[in-house]
Amino acid sequence: MMSSKKHKVLRKAIFPVAGLGSRFLPATKASPKEMMPVVDKPLIQYAVEEAVSAGITEMIFVTGRAKRAIADHFDKAYELEHQLEKSGKKELLKIAQGVVPKGVSCTYIRQTEALGLGHAVLTAAHLIGDESFAVLLADDLIHGETPALKQMAEQHGFYGSSVIAVQKVSGAGISAYGVISGTKQGAHLYSLNGIVEKPKVEDAPSDMGVTGRYIFSPQIFDHLRALKPGAGGEYQLTDAIQMLLMQEQVLAYQFQGTRYDCGSKIGLLRANIELGLEHPEIGKKLRDFLKNELFQKLQ
Ligand code: G1P
Repeated sequence: MMSSKKHKVLRKAIFPVAGLGSRFLPATKASPKEMMPVVDKPLIQYAVEEAVSAGITEMIFVTGRAKRAIADHFDKAYELEHQLEKSGKKELLKIAQGVVPKGVSCTYIRQTEALGLGHAVLTAAHLIGDESFAVLLADDLIHGETPALKQMAEQHGFYGSSVIAVQKVSGAGISAYGVISGTKQGAHLYSLNGIVEKPKVEDAPSDMGVTGRYIFSPQIFDHLRALKPGAGGEYQLTDAIQMLLMQEQVLAYQFQGTRYDCGSKIGLLRANIELGLEHPEIGKKLRDFLKNELFQKLQ
């Protein structure tokens, strides 16, 4: 384990958002799944805010067909802003203008074929160059005191290695994840020995599943370029990580926070309820509704 402080700067993040979102049809027939709201904010904005909290200023979206709403969301909305200003709705104007913080840029690139997560990340290689970068999957909403990517950026800044997010997954659910085997390095930190995409339960090397947050050294691109189709016939990011860890150290970090799988209906609903309960505007009303009306119905 390297011990000297490396202070690797992290400026860029890739958001693979080309997926079809078919699990949410018909909601996703014409609009991106990443634009589905949790309370009052689209999933993709939670991910961008998390990246900003980790010091990232260049957001790179790997998009596909029917994803224009994402670019519109992070663009200036002249008409809306004008209307809000005219009618004196200052608070709402602030919200509309604050979607992209000052100094943050957004770039969009198309993944023309849906060939897998590894392929999506490789599509943005020329926009990254020779520096470390983050990958965030907006489906995974992580809620907690310190944003997960910020926690990971601290580890990356200290050790200089790639860092991937993991959490304990119980039972058969593990087959839905990339699964690691690792050697414990600290309270929440593992040095990766292996990683496998969506193994059968009996083949899973551990109960530690990968969550959609990654910080990579640029060497990952060499391995993405060499990828062959893996699980499900797709070019898997997980397979490139397995090749990377043969070349250099890769860390797995068990982040603090709750992860909601917003790629599933139940996960999205849970996130809406739990974040709704904390929302300053509706939290109390929602709590009263759940306690006084809904709970009784469920008895
Ligand atoms: C992807 C990755 C998988 C990871 C998961 C986290 O899978 O391939 O390794 O565990 O994200 O959400 P997906 O859920 O896109 O099938």
